[in-house]
Amino acid sequence: MVPAMQVRAAVIPAAGSGTSFLPATKAVPKELLPIGDVPAIQIIIDEAIGAGIEHIVVVSSPTKPGIEQYFERDDALIGLLKDTGRDEMADRLEAIGRDWRVTITYQDEPLGLGHAVGCGRDVVGDEAFAVLLPDELMGDSSLLAQMCGVCASTGGSVVGVKKVPLDEVAAYGVVAPSGPMTDDGVIPLTDLVEKPEPSAAPSEFILIGRYVLTPDVFGDIAVLEPGTGGELQLTDALRRQAARSPLHGVLSSIARYDTSTPLGYLEASIAFALHDPDLSGDLRTYLATL
Ligand code: G1P
Repeated sequence: MVPAMQVRAAVIPAAGSGTSFLPATKAVPKELLPIGDVPAIQIIIDEAIGAGIEHIVVVSSPTKPGIEQYFERDDALIGLLKDTGRDEMADRLEAIGRDWRVTITYQDEPLGLGHAVGCGRDVVGDEAFAVLLPDELMGDSSLLAQMCGVCASTGGSVVGVKKVPLDEVAAYGVVAPSGPMTDDGVIPLTDLVEKPEPSAAPSEFILIGRYVLTPDVFGDIAVLEPGTGGELQLTDALRRQAARSPLHGVLSSIARYDTSTPLGYLEASIAFALHDPDLSGDLRTYLATL
């Protein structure tokens, strides 16, 4: 009998030093760089909330105080906005953390993604939880919502996947399917490999930074040895977990933007602006002049 599982918490690893975006990230954490006027991490949070998540667990670094500041309520600023008739903006500020809870926890050393997720263990507790990598922005919440459903129905962990050309797989975790895909894109998996050479890749399905994990994975994280790049890899913990319990992939059919490079970040900024009714008309006109 599969236990009923509601996914309430989402871990967002945000302790990285953002070196690809220096010098901007010397003062501003990468996760707070804006897409339009919304910090990237807020887009990730909105995706999680849209999938039914109630508790956001940010794994930050003590060297990034701006992250805490973003979540702290600022009554003086809200009051000033209200006094000057900018109620809509005051509402936006008041909404940060109003209908959801945020807990900030810390990764003191950059030991890898597996280690970062493990830093959320005490906060998450003994429940299934989501992991959202903030470098990857999704068009909406539907993939994560479907993944939560698959976790509840199978009782096992679930990863979001996308098919890419074989020559791109070396930058990602790659999964090994063990059976056919269902009509709604659910694939049983037996194994995963972090950043394989294309010749050694078990498929062309990559991990796209969305996970719904059962809490026993924290035990697998705790015994991780350094893997690819000398880091404690979440992929390796899932590999251990998959050896004893079901693991599924869900094929994403929604837009995905990898903002880990300045070019990807610009593409995401433009794409989100083109979906914003307040900006799209003028932006299209401007882009047509270039
Ligand atoms: C991480 C994961 C990798 C995944 C990728 C998605 O890699 O380790 O499995 O495919 O995110 O963006 P990173 O980009 O941190 O090197």
